Amino acid sequence: MNKDLLKMDDLTKEEILDILNLADQLKYEHKHNIEHPHLKGKTLGMIFQKSSTRTRVSFEVGMYQLGGNALFLSSRDLQIGRGEPVEDTARVLSRYLDGIMIRTYDQAEVEVLAKHSSIPIINGLTDDEHPCQVLADLMTIREFKTSFDGLKLCFIGDGNNMANSLLVGALKLGIKVSIASPNEYTINEAYVTKGNELSELNNVEFILTNDPKEAAKDADVIITDVWASMGQEAETEKRIKAFKGYQINKDLMSYAKDDAIVLHCLPAHRDEEITSEILESHSSEIFEEAENRLHAQKAVLVKLLKNTNKFN
Ligand code: CP
Ligand code: NVA
Repeated sequence: MNKDLLKMDDLTKEEILDILNLADQLKYEHKHNIEHPHLKGKTLGMIFQKSSTRTRVSFEVGMYQLGGNALFLSSRDLQIGRGEPVEDTARVLSRYLDGIMIRTYDQAEVEVLAKHSSIPIINGLTDDEHPCQVLADLMTIREFKTSFDGLKLCFIGDGNNMANSLLVGALKLGIKVSIASPNEYTINEAYVTKGNELSELNNVEFILTNDPKEAAKDADVIITDVWASMGQEAETEKRIKAFKGYQINKDLMSYAKDDAIVLHCLPAHRDEEITSEILESHSSEIFEEAENRLHAQKAVLVKLLKNTNKFN
């Protein structure tokens, strides 16, 4: 595996499956009180430039369960918030820590941090990608559907970080992907190109449309996310208007397979991108997905931090 996990495309199909298999094993061990202190004595720094409930708590608890420690580093308190270059922060933190999880805006910042760090860097969400969430989503899909064979995954809504990471992860595993977004909120050109490349390479369909019904047709997995992501709060009203018709509700679900599951990375805005009714009737999948953040990320941490010795 690469030193870092910055985006889904950093992982091969085999590496994704290895992570998911280890995540399943760690989940089993955790549920059966079998300790797994793979990261004894290791410390993860967690830099947050945006809010978080799931990412913060699951990474912190995950490190404790692996026998290590986690440090919460708010960018408000770090010198990075006062203009210290990322390049210098990377070199300093590499001397104290064994890994860094960072949640920020610009994907380029994560790339610069990784380039100048001697320790693994994990993307805990940027404007472009949310790979840890997508690993948890893939884990959840396999739990509910037992295999990825022949599945169709449909994402309805904003062409955002979740849509980007999902399309790359799912197409790599041979899952058919359809994405429905309003014309002015489609995924960006780079991810359209990536999706088309993966579709051709893996001989699996990749559909981009502005028709939610077409996207949802015969889907096994229906996914959505908020219409205004962190940093886009000022556009909320405008987006609520633009995304009218892109809600996951009973009518849209009637186009999917009868046994389709519904996922949402959370936090959800009830009765905007998803009705309360659908969210509650699929809460078993959605909250398992939230739990699986813990197990999937522990697998990533073991893969990236266990056998690295930065002093070599
Ligand atoms: N899904 C997710 O990343 O949640 P948080 O923003 O609470 O971390
Ligand atoms: N797209 C959302 C995901 C939150 C976990 C955001 O970036 O705010």
